[in-house]
Parts: sequence; structure tokens; C-alpha cells
Amino acid sequence: MQRPNPSIATVIRPFDDAAIKDAATRISAGECVAIPTETVYGLAADATNGEAVASVYAAKGRPSFNPLIVHVPDIEMARSLAEIDTVAEKLAGQFWPGPLTMVLPTAKNSPVADIVTAGLNTIAIRIPAHPAMQALLRATGLPLAAPSANASGRISPTQAEHVRMSLDGKIGLIIDAGPSSLGLESTIIAPGESGVRMLRPGPITAEHISSATGLPTETGSTGTITAPGQLATHYAPAKPVRLDASSSEPDEWLIGFGAIAGDASLSESGDLIEAAANLFGCLHEADASERPKIAVAPLPRDGIGEAIADRLARAAHRD
Ligand code: TXA
Ligand code: MG
Repeated sequence: MQRPNPSIATVIRPFDDAAIKDAATRISAGECVAIPTETVYGLAADATNGEAVASVYAAKGRPSFNPLIVHVPDIEMARSLAEIDTVAEKLAGQFWPGPLTMVLPTAKNSPVADIVTAGLNTIAIRIPAHPAMQALLRATGLPLAAPSANASGRISPTQAEHVRMSLDGKIGLIIDAGPSSLGLESTIIAPGESGVRMLRPGPITAEHISSATGLPTETGSTGTITAPGQLATHYAPAKPVRLDASSSEPDEWLIGFGAIAGDASLSESGDLIEAAANLFGCLHEADASERPKIAVAPLPRDGIGEAIADRLARAAHRD
């Protein structure tokens, strides 16, 4: 007889020493745990334990070809996992800890499980700044593979409650440290000797990268998808989304910006940093509203506006 998968009890604990100890014990036992970072909440597992990492894919229902970001507490551990050349070194000095992920050649004898990189010979690495993720990294002494803590193809979580709504019954523990300050996934780049490729726009812009390296930063699509996170379905809410709306139809929930008030606003003062921090929260709210459609006010595309536009275009894409 086939038994249904038993559902796990999902506990939410506020971030403190006892919660981190609980989380570290679970991670060491091969469980995955939702933990806040300054970008979005991550679903963390021991990156050296293939089964633990498989449980992350399982909890998320994530397609197996999507490699994960590995989080480390410091540059020493980064060096044990990846080859860090002079360009990467410069970028690490300037932007780590912080919202930058670098795709680098995997180090020889790296202890990271193959499933983490989905068979690639490169590894995506980040040193996060958030005190909760830093505390967990230090308590476990392990590199932690952590994609965003949402079911695959759904909106990235910026609050513990978003994680619970998406993964309730699928994971044992969510650490709650309030809303993520940036609210937008990390910038992903691939540094090279003659230039840097931008794989996913984010809080660190192409201008930031170029001025740190003195090298050109190649943005935009080159025709091939190097980061599967760039797949158009990755960030989609369940409802149709209409962009650049200056007013709403009766069946639409309008996400406003600046002078366009809407049902909720990304930023009443027209601040793009604030809009980025509110983006996923507003999409969640719109998706949960009674109205069957979502409209979004226009936003400028300069600076972090490029990353917001990228996320909104994916939200609006329908097959
Ligand atoms: O802010 C963030 O980056 C969050 C927090 C939790 O750190 N994490 C996150 O992870 O957004 P995830 O798994 O949702 O996105 C990871 C992205 C995917 O697009 C994946 O394909 C790409 O990183 N990636 C991972 N390893 C890669 C590699 N070796 N080459 C190219 N892309 C890679
Ligand atoms: Mg994600």
C-alpha cells in the first residue's frame, strides 16, 4: 500500500542564540533550515552532504538542472571551494560580505557535493552580511548551499511568513529576523581576466562592478542562459501581471510607485531602493488579494531599477 508523504511540523523561531543552536543541530543532521539573509530568505543545507542538498531540491520542487549558491563565512573558506584570481579578489575585497555572488572555477579537492553545482565545473559563492546567516555559518563550520526559500517558480520570500506560506509542512524550522533589508536576490557575476559577465542583475550594479575592477561588465542576454534563474518562469506570481500601468481596471490589484498610489505602493516617495525592498512583498500581497489580475505602475530603469524591471518582466511573462 502506498502511504502519503508525512508532513513535517514547521516551527518559526525568532533569531537568537538558542534558535541558531537548534538550526545548526538540524543542519549537521542533514536537515534544511530557512534562514534570513540581507537579500531574501534562504533554504540552507550542508553543501558537503549530497542528501541534505537533495532535500532542498525536494522541499522546493526545484528542477534538478538549477545549481545552488554556496554561502561561506569568510574568504578563507571561499578559497577552499573556488579558485579566486586577482579580479575576483578585488571584487571580494570590495563587496563581501554583501549581496554579490561570484561564479568561479571549482577548487581541486572541494568538499562540496556534485548536486550543488548540478554537474558544472564552476561554483557560485557568496559571503552574506546578515547576522543570522553569519551566525549559522559559524555555528556549523560548514559551507551552506541555500537557494531562496520558496517553492520553485514562486516569488522569493523576504519575510518568515512568506516562507511558511510556500513551504509549510515541507521544512522543520524557519528562523525569523524580520523583513530582508534589500529584498532582492544577490547580483550574480562571472569574473574573467578581460571582463566580468553579469549573469543576474541585483543590488550591486554593473557600474559598481566596473568601477571596482576597471574592466568592462557585459550585461544583457548573450542568447544562452547561463544562470537558470534567468528562465522566464522563475519569479512568476500565479496571476496575470500587466506592466507600466498608470491606472487599474476594476479586476486588477494595482501596485503603485511614486505619484501613482495604487492599492499598495512600492515607494510613495519614488525611491528605487525602497521599491526593491518592497517588491516581493507587494507581489505576494497582490497575489493574495481578491482581484484576479495584477497591474504595476511604471518605474525608472536606472541603477537598481534595472533589476526590478528584470524581476517584473519575469513576473509578467506567460507561456
Ligand atoms: O540572494 C540570493 O542570491 C539568495 C540568497 C538566499 O543567498 N539565493 C538565491 O539562490 O537566489 P537561487 O538558488 O534562487 O539562485 C541561484 C542562481 C540560480 O540562477 C542558479 O542557476 C545560479 O545561481 N547558479 C548557481 N550556480 C551557478 C553556476 N555554477 N553557474 C551559473 N549559474 C549558477
Ligand atoms: Mg529563487
